Formats: sequence, C-alpha cells, structure tokens
Amino acid sequence: MPASSEKEAAKFNAAEAAVKLVKDGHVIGIGSGSTVEYFVKLLGKRIKDEELEIYGVPSSFQSYFLALSNGIRVVSLDEFNVLDLAIDGADEADSKLNLIKGGGGALTREKIVDSAAKNFVVIVDWTKKVSHLGERFPVPVEVLPFAYGYVCRRLREFGGDPVLREAKSKLGPIISDNGNFIVDVKFQRIDDAKKLEKEINNIPGVIENGIFPSSLVDMVYVGYSDKVEVLKRK
Ligand code: A5P
Repeated sequence: MPASSEKEAAKFNAAEAAVKLVKDGHVIGIGSGSTVEYFVKLLGKRIKDEELEIYGVPSSFQSYFLALSNGIRVVSLDEFNVLDLAIDGADEADSKLNLIKGGGGALTREKIVDSAAKNFVVIVDWTKKVSHLGERFPVPVEVLPFAYGYVCRRLREFGGDPVLREAKSKLGPIISDNGNFIVDVKFQRIDDAKKLEKEINNIPGVIENGIFPSSLVDMVYVGYSDKVEVLKRK
C-alpha cells in the first residue's frame, strides 16, 4: 500500500473507533481537519442507519458544513454549554497527551468546544506521535491583526520564530474564521506545554494558541493502517 493511502487508512481507523463512542441524543463537539471529516461521515452513516438524533457544536465553517450535510443537528454553545463528547484531530501528540493543534487555523473555536466537553477524544494517524511537543510542528497562534508586530516581538522574546501564515488561493495572509491572522511559531523544544500555553496567551493581542495541554485531553486514538492504539491520560 502506498504511504499516503496507509495514512488515510490510519485516519479512517481512528475515526471509526471514535464513532462508536457516540450515543443517541448526544451533544457533541465537532473538531476540524481531514481526520474529523472521516468521523463526521461515519457518524452521518450511523445517524441514517440507526435513526439517531445527534446534536453538534462545530468548531469551524468546515465542520459546520460537514455537520449539516451529514444529518447532525447544529446547535450552539449558548443552548448546550456542556457537551457529552468532543472529537478532534491534532498536529502533534506527545506521550503525556499534550497536543499542538491549529494546522487548519481553527484552534480558537476548537479549544473552546473541546474544553466544553465532558469527554475529549483526539483522533490522529500514527505520524502525529512525537516524543517532544514542537518536534515537527510550529505552534499556531491566532493574533488580532492590529497587534501583529507587537505580538511577534514578544514571541521572539520567548525563543519563538513567528511566521505569518500565507493563504494559498488568496493574496496575503489567511484570515481565520474569527477574522484574525494566524502566526506559526517554531520553538526548538517545548518542555513545559502548560506554562508556554499560558505565557503566549498572556501577550496582549493574542486570541489563543494551539498548545492543548494534557489536562484538557481524555484519550488519544492513534490510527495505524491495521489497528488503533488508545492512549489514556494518567
Ligand atoms: C485544525 O485547526 C487542526 O487543529 C486540525 O484538527 C489538525 O490540523 C489535524 O488535522 P488533520 O486531521 O487534517 O491532520
């Protein structure tokens, strides 16, 4: 099997395992990304086959449209501020279940939705496992455009190397679902995820950052092409 389809099979397997956690009547947080897309499509099939009633709070326009087209009744955090379950992807996960998220620029709403859930389960393929956070992926930071220059200076003081994320099918920077810039910040090594998460969020002009400390995460389902490994928070 070529590498890319092995990876797709791994994402599918993680999503398929996670979809079994959903029960009739559940209100779920719907993360964003390509692994979550498998999850929502599989859930859509269960909703149809088993005539389930599932409510969902999406974390991005991507997951909003996905939810609508797969039979999930979209609701807001104002109606349901405690969610039964949230399912989301990640860009990196270490062995303690600290995460980096935000490769799709949806980190702020993702952190809100994932935090609102009684049970937050992450679905990833095996390539997302790292021994140290920041090993491969920069930390995405959502920044108020007005504060961009100042925030970059402060991020450099923490040893980060900030790069404004450029759009692919538009000139200039990407604009998040909330109307802000995304800055990708490379750190050599992140030893204390929780501390760095707080330090970055303390900079005026930072809306949120993509470090999701393990205290938020209940389980990580790591998909491989032929199995799923379940990591639980200790
Ligand atoms: C979206 O902003 C991200 O946090 C995604 O959840 C993350 O990038 C994982 O995406 P994939 O499942 O596409 O790898």
